[in-house]
Amino acid sequence: MPNAIVFGATSGIGRSLSDYLIQDNYRIAISGRRIELLEEVRDKRPDQVIVHQLDVQDLDQCRQVFESAVGKLGEIDLIIHCSGIGYENPQLDWSLEADTVKTNVLAATLIYDLAFNLFRKQEKGHLVSVSSIASLRGNRHSPAYFASKAYQVNYLESLYFKSKEVKGGKIFITDIRPGYIDTRMALGDDKFWMSSLEKASRQIYKVIKRKKRRAYITRRWLLISWVLKIVPSWLIKKVM
Ligand SMILES: NC(=O)c1ccc[n+]([C@@H]2O[C@H](COP(=O)([O-])OP(=O)(O)OC[C@H]3O[C@@H](n4cnc5c(N)ncnc54)[C@H](OP(=O)(O)O)[C@@H]3O)[C@@H](O)[C@H]2O)c1
Repeated sequence: MPNAIVFGATSGIGRSLSDYLIQDNYRIAISGRRIELLEEVRDKRPDQVIVHQLDVQDLDQCRQVFESAVGKLGEIDLIIHCSGIGYENPQLDWSLEADTVKTNVLAATLIYDLAFNLFRKQEKGHLVSVSSIASLRGNRHSPAYFASKAYQVNYLESLYFKSKEVKGGKIFITDIRPGYIDTRMALGDDKFWMSSLEKASRQIYKVIKRKKRRAYITRRWLLISWVLKIVPSWLIKKVM
């Protein structure tokens, strides 16, 4: 039976991917703050699911949960990082900016490093993280969120480069970059091309199975990514 750890599995993309993993016969360790939602998943498949209540901003607890999951499951095939937050914060309220950085930057870095070091020891493993199309540009309404996603994308690319130093070529890094998906995280009023969670998760799971390096979700957001990468700031300053 393959083993996986999912951070941010209480709702949205993480919860949906956990369901796919259970169907695919994985044993999974899932975490998040809302323990009752994790317990619902575990109660349906107690033989396959281990739960940990975790606030990833508590970095010591995050490390302990990681070690506990590895201790219980053994060799880990797949680690999925979905824990993330974001706010519309046009007034630059410091508590919201700091909250975003603690979860999306500090905690994400710890999870990436724990995963990579484990995989280096195992000489194999697959790290998947859900960043965002937001990684590609700045945004006046949610500066910390957009910047934190750029950080994630660059960190994941660094780990991809590092994975090439490990003999055997069996460490894979996948960066998932969604546009709007219908979860509580979809930011803003103008949510064009919003995908259902079902469709987005189906596409993400396919990408994971193929161990692709990166993917825009849904696929049509690849077109937007091309535009975002080349349009000068003066031309998009009104929409961003
Ligand atoms: N939905 C979109 O339109 C969209 C677009 C681009 C990227 N994304 C990214 O997709 C990822 C998943 O979001 P989602 O759309 O699935 O929304 P979601 O339903 O809000 O899921 C976010 C997950 O992160 C967990 N989380 C947040 N803060 C945490 C903390 N301090 N400690 C532990 N877990 C924490 C939440 O669990 P608890 O609250 O129970 O702790 C939840 O399980 C995020 O990184 C988001 O930035 C989403």
